[in-house]
Amino acid sequence: MSDPLLRCHALTRRFGALAALNGVSLEVEARERRAIIGPNGAGKTTLFDLITGELTPSAGHVEFAGRTISGLPPHAVARRGISRSYQRTNAFRHLTAGENLRLAAAAGARENFRLLAAPPPPASTSAAVREVAHAVGLGARLDILAGRLSHGEQRQLELGIALATRPRLLLLDEPTAGMSPAETQRMVRLLAALPREVTCLIIEHDMDLVFTLADRVSVLHHGEVLAEGLPAAVRGDPRVHEVYLGSGGEA
Ligand SMILES: Nc1ncnc2c1ncn2[C@@H]1O[C@H](COP(=O)(O)OP(=O)(O)O)[C@@H](O)[C@H]1O
Ligand SMILES: [Mg+2]
Repeated sequence: MSDPLLRCHALTRRFGALAALNGVSLEVEARERRAIIGPNGAGKTTLFDLITGELTPSAGHVEFAGRTISGLPPHAVARRGISRSYQRTNAFRHLTAGENLRLAAAAGARENFRLLAAPPPPASTSAAVREVAHAVGLGARLDILAGRLSHGEQRQLELGIALATRPRLLLLDEPTAGMSPAETQRMVRLLAALPREVTCLIIEHDMDLVFTLADRVSVLHHGEVLAEGLPAAVRGDPRVHEVYLGSGGEA
């Protein structure tokens, strides 16, 4: 078995007296799809902030592809190949969907994405943009202003912007939050069809989505890993039921 792509070593992050994350160790293999679940306030988003460099750990560190990334600023972490999709949209509303994807592709084409392919030369950027647009279901919507896309399409564009940088690791924080059932279904299909080369960490409250998409599940509770394993095992774990599944399933 190869070394994990992502390794969190005893990560702790305090906000004053509160330990939002408390000694979390986590290993994610390349090509894996890992769901992070847990009640509101469990520390899920804080974990993402520590991985992407938006927060620095109070203790512990993060390794990516065998190198420590804790302490690097977010743009340097992004250049190593970690991309994040936010709950709010990052798209430029007055640019078209295609222009947004082109900008993201240009930003991602700089360095360190050797796993997937050499950075695309400008001539192939439009082909890469079309490929990403197709992957996120916006192939026929490239000329529409981002601000005029439906809510679900804006979330698809957000995913496309994250993918267009050609990440090795993609972090998705509640990718179906606020979506209608139809939009959710569509997003699940898109996520399931993503290339395996893109390792995914997905914070999600929709249990069906978690159990459809994830290879493994980690359950956070009060800033600690309460349980971890195959979806079926986690689903059957009485401790998980107690803190999470039994509580109505809010994330
Ligand atoms: N910048 C911050 N300052 C103070 N407390 C914070 C900050 N960010 C998060 N927290 C607290 O840390 C805990 C974990 O938050 P968060 O990681 O957002 O949880 P989750 O994403 O699992 O809902 C919560 O109690 C939250 O209020
Ligand atoms: Mg959160």
